[in-house]
Amino acid sequence: MSENATSDTKLRQFAVFGHPVAHSLSPRIHQTFARQQGLLIEYRAIDVAPAALPAALDAFATAGGMGANITLPHKEAAFALCAARSDRAARSGSVNTLTRVNGRWHGDNTDGAGLVRDLTERQRFDLRGRRTLLLGAGGAARGVAPALLDAGIDELVIVNRSPERADALADVLGDPQHAHSRYWKDLGTIGEFDLLINATSAGRAGGRLDLSFALIAPRALAVDLNYGEIAVPFLAWAESGGCKKRSDGLGMLVEQAAESFAIWTGKRPSTEAIFDELSQQAQTLHTAD
Ligand code: ATR
Repeated sequence: MSENATSDTKLRQFAVFGHPVAHSLSPRIHQTFARQQGLLIEYRAIDVAPAALPAALDAFATAGGMGANITLPHKEAAFALCAARSDRAARSGSVNTLTRVNGRWHGDNTDGAGLVRDLTERQRFDLRGRRTLLLGAGGAARGVAPALLDAGIDELVIVNRSPERADALADVLGDPQHAHSRYWKDLGTIGEFDLLINATSAGRAGGRLDLSFALIAPRALAVDLNYGEIAVPFLAWAESGGCKKRSDGLGMLVEQAAESFAIWTGKRPSTEAIFDELSQQAQTLHTAD
């Protein structure tokens, strides 16, 4: 199929709901997928305050909206308003993909699958048996934790500034043999990790995590789920600690979008071209999905 071929002229309406959402890359990513697949779509970025989310989703559906992505800060609220949820959404307690089915919203979460696909297929990092550190226990951490466990990591150590949130995430995962929480203050003494994931929002507020280099195992991979300039402090820390494999969350962003697109249209798009295009602009991008 040629890049701009449109073989199916039915207009499908999609949108991403967030607050803020103006800088979201999702419209661009999904339009690229649609051109590639010969589909005609409209994909809008809709900025809506938390209290107005249910009404905005209703209005979108009434106007013909078939599917929606959900980004900060609405992922947990979207989970609550779904009539049905996928198993992986249920296990993460958050939803990033809504599909209109028989007049009701079905919720899914493609973030974890997107991360795992990026790590295993694009970065060729074998997750099996890896000791993994998950920094943070908010929406981003919850979205990826179940998929990491399903991918066969050996141990998931969840560490959060507020310990009760780390405990709650470990509880909801329900796999004490593999997933458990530790205190932030113990980060210097809990050993080294093959995979280190920053799922905190510290960088978004201009903050920097004060972490020990003792956390980094030889040949470890450090991943920040944010992308662009917000991911720089954590990845710079990893580099200073001798970590040679480092990645921001751009690959995950593109892969979770592909997964959502496939759910809505039944067609799985190729992600390489859009990933390469966005990577070239990486330092100027602002995390918004
Ligand atoms: P998101 O959806 O991006 O995960 P969130 O649900 O608000 O956003 O969660 C933010 C995460 O970043 C939380 O784990 C938060 O820790 P707390 O639960 O203790 O608030 C973490 N975080 C934010 N700023 C941080 C900082 N300066 N140091 C450490 N953790 C931080």
